[in-house]
Amino acid sequence: MRQVVISKAGSPDMLRVVDVPLPEPDPGSVRIKSAAIGVNFADLVGRLGLYPDSPKIPYVPGYEVAGTIDAVGSGVDASRLGEPVIALTRFNGYSEALCIPADQAIPRPAKMPVEQAGGFLVSYLTAYASLVVMAGIKPHDRVLIHAAAGGVGLAAVDLCRVYGATIYGTASPAKHDFLRARGVQFPIDYRHQDFEKEVARLSDGRGVQIALDPIGGRSWTKSYRALSPTGRLVINGVTSLTPRARRSLRALLRMALTTPWLRFTPVRLANDNKGVVGVNLGHLWDETALLREWVTQLLAWYDTGRIDIHVDRTFPLAEAAAAHRYLHERRNTGKVVLIP
Ligand SMILES: NC(=O)c1ccc[n+]([C@@H]2O[C@H](COP(=O)([O-])OP(=O)(O)OC[C@H]3O[C@@H](n4cnc5c(N)ncnc54)[C@H](OP(=O)(O)O)[C@@H]3O)[C@@H](O)[C@H]2O)c1
Repeated sequence: MRQVVISKAGSPDMLRVVDVPLPEPDPGSVRIKSAAIGVNFADLVGRLGLYPDSPKIPYVPGYEVAGTIDAVGSGVDASRLGEPVIALTRFNGYSEALCIPADQAIPRPAKMPVEQAGGFLVSYLTAYASLVVMAGIKPHDRVLIHAAAGGVGLAAVDLCRVYGATIYGTASPAKHDFLRARGVQFPIDYRHQDFEKEVARLSDGRGVQIALDPIGGRSWTKSYRALSPTGRLVINGVTSLTPRARRSLRALLRMALTTPWLRFTPVRLANDNKGVVGVNLGHLWDETALLREWVTQLLAWYDTGRIDIHVDRTFPLAEAAAAHRYLHERRNTGKVVLIP
């Protein structure tokens, strides 16, 4: 079978297609024949050698797949053979097949197209953890979503609509019409405008109750300032660490110098009546029961048409490098998915 390996830290050209033997499932595991593989921004950060949780390069990236169970290890109910499933994978996702513990292979709803299924779990679980669990979103909240037209961003937009929140979403200007059609009341052109001033202007100086900020550095400071009293900032990424398809020492330095390491002190949080929370889905991988509970809720919303996974583009698995470039160049609107 084929898989895509990060052969060396660096540009998307470092992704190599290799042939390896088909893996056999251990006891308690299943093998999934992949039909769609979600591409996530963290795959790009890992490829650049900047993701602390990644295995040592060379390794196979990939956090999520949709496919069919085509082999089961001992102790696993053989009736699961042929079952359509979705799964979070701790790396190894960019493969034609992979093995995971049986209890982490989640049945895929019959009506969910496989491309959507491949790009569903990481974005929607991150948005759910951020907005619903950590920030406690309520109807009529004003919510600032950075990279609102990206994978996690659009998932957060969907969840805001489920809760009836008002959405302020930063994105490149070419994506604003699309965002308006998805229900974002206030798209913000962060590339030409100061988003903090725009949030203040558009909210009549009231600010937002929730800000989701995966940009990092100075953006965290500005998002914090954009909060109204009792507002919560959710820190869930550092997109600005990787402004290009190659490592940038300048971006690393800028991030180090502009990160508000000492700003969110206990006294300051109390006096400001604000909260700062963090989300790292990768550190919840073993919380199988918790993740199942969240997935069950998300699938219920999917089933009733309240969330709509937007797949922008698919690429053949062998063209993973082109898929990475597409994200680096900020061309994606929603999810990018690899098809083996
Ligand atoms: N904490 C967690 O558990 C968790 C889980 C998943 C993802 N994340 C993080 O959430 C963020 C979004 O992830 P995603 O997979 O959904 O990706 P994504 O948002 O689809 O990423 C690409 C988009 O980000 C925007 N962007 C802003 N600054 C950028 C930059 N410097 N370089 C490239 N794109 C930039 C671009 O949209 P515009 O042109 O419209 O700005 C681009 O189209 C990432 O930081 C990711 O690491 C965190």
